[in-house]
Amino acid sequence: MRHWMLVVILLAGLVSVGAHVPKSSAAPDIASALPQGDGPQYASDGALVRPKNFETWVFVGASTGLSYEQDMKMKGPGEFHNVYIRPEAYQVYKQTGKFPEKTMFALALYSPDEKVSPSHAGYFEGDFDSLAVAVKDHDHFPEGWAYFNFGSAHDLSARAMPVSKSNCYSCHSKNGADDNVFVQFYPILRPIMKAHKSASSADSAR
Ligand code: HEC
Repeated sequence: MRHWMLVVILLAGLVSVGAHVPKSSAAPDIASALPQGDGPQYASDGALVRPKNFETWVFVGASTGLSYEQDMKMKGPGEFHNVYIRPEAYQVYKQTGKFPEKTMFALALYSPDEKVSPSHAGYFEGDFDSLAVAVKDHDHFPEGWAYFNFGSAHDLSARAMPVSKSNCYSCHSKNGADDNVFVQFYPILRPIMKAHKSASSADSAR
């Protein structure tokens, strides 16, 4: 069979499959993609448009039940936190040890689940729970980093205003290991930070 015929048949198949996919109902649309390479997008009032393609970013680490408040009661091991960075920012961090302007992180929370056959012990990530985002952008925020809370799965906002500095920024700037970011908790970024820090201390010792 000629190639173009095969292509036409395949395309026709795709179109007909597409036509029968039901439109998603009330489920949050966190999977549909913005074009890759887009940086933070803002609405005219300064709100950040929710990045829709964060699952395709570089996954830097996960934690469970990491709590910022003492004596917090939680179900099972607590929530799973998945952290992703924009791929372009990851590449620059890897090369330079610095987070570039327009770096974005997504923190997606999942509730713990257990005992779904065949598992008898342990926990896995259950339903998507909520989304928070951090952006480094001095053009928009004098202190560089800004933090956004897009709310929970059943009511995920399409856009979010920056959260006040005292709520998010202060803990991040005080405790994040590198430039407001909690690199100490991310196994994919930790070795990069260490390599660049030891290279720069070797340079200054010369
Ligand atoms: C008391 C400290 C504290 C406060 C307050 C805080 N965070 Fe965080 N944040 C953390 C820690 C610890 C992590 C490490 C990853 C995790 O939670 O699993 C983190 C990670 C993140 C990340 C992933 C990127 C990064 O910077 O490491 C985002 C995005 C984020 N937080 C958003 C927020 C937002 C939005 C707020 C305010 C509504 C907030 N945080 C308030 C401690 C804090």
